[in-house]
Amino acid sequence: MRVAGRLAADVLDMIGDYVKPGVTTDELDRICHEYITDVQKAVPAPLNYRGFPKSICTSVNHVVCHGIPGERKLKSGDAVNIDITVIKDGFHGDTSRMFFVAAAGIQAQRLAEVAFEGMWLGIEQLAPGRHLGDVGAAIQRHVEKNRCSIVREYCGHGIGRVFHEDPQVLHYGSAGTGMELKSGMTLTIEPMVNAGKPAVKLLPDGWTVVTKDHSLSAQWEHTVLVTDAGYEVLTLGADAR
Ligand code: MF3
Ligand code: CO
Ligand code: CO
Repeated sequence: MRVAGRLAADVLDMIGDYVKPGVTTDELDRICHEYITDVQKAVPAPLNYRGFPKSICTSVNHVVCHGIPGERKLKSGDAVNIDITVIKDGFHGDTSRMFFVAAAGIQAQRLAEVAFEGMWLGIEQLAPGRHLGDVGAAIQRHVEKNRCSIVREYCGHGIGRVFHEDPQVLHYGSAGTGMELKSGMTLTIEPMVNAGKPAVKLLPDGWTVVTKDHSLSAQWEHTVLVTDAGYEVLTLGADAR
């Protein structure tokens, strides 16, 4: 899991330089696909996962998650979440970050910050004996304090030899409730945070999730290991975040 996590983070470190005005999300998909298969000798988990047609997810502006790369050209001011999952030696590493295309809008930047801080506050709850509800409550408190909202329909997940497994890791909830954490568990924490209302809508392509009110949405994701000491983040980037 450490190896798979590092490879997934390496893909995000690599792709940042290519997120420029005029690039299409298809081009980002192709560059990541080739890096994962040719350089890392790993497998892009999304490709053909339950019929998903591409190797990465690219979710732009009001797209909440599971955006399908396509011919759309990114333009200055766009905010895009790139979500990478690689399989190496049978194990999955899953991580996503927000990228800004050239100039970032002030509202989009603040939203991304709130989502990032929320993810880390959730991660910092992790330790044996703590509960999944502690994670959700910490994220929800921070996001709502900042007058943003948490998407309810999608959540983090157990991860290992299987991409999505139990438990569900909700990004809202009550402290002290839910599954008790044990050393050795591997999970993702990946809050989706909307600038407007929490409601989402699935587009007819069967994958793309957008905010119902078309407000901006932001997401960050890490794969984490619960340890005796607390936690280890398996998908840290080169900047250790
Ligand atoms: N990487 C996403 C997650 O964090 C799942 C993407 S499923 C796909 O769980 F099929 F859309 F790729
Ligand atoms: Co995930
Ligand atoms: Co992911």
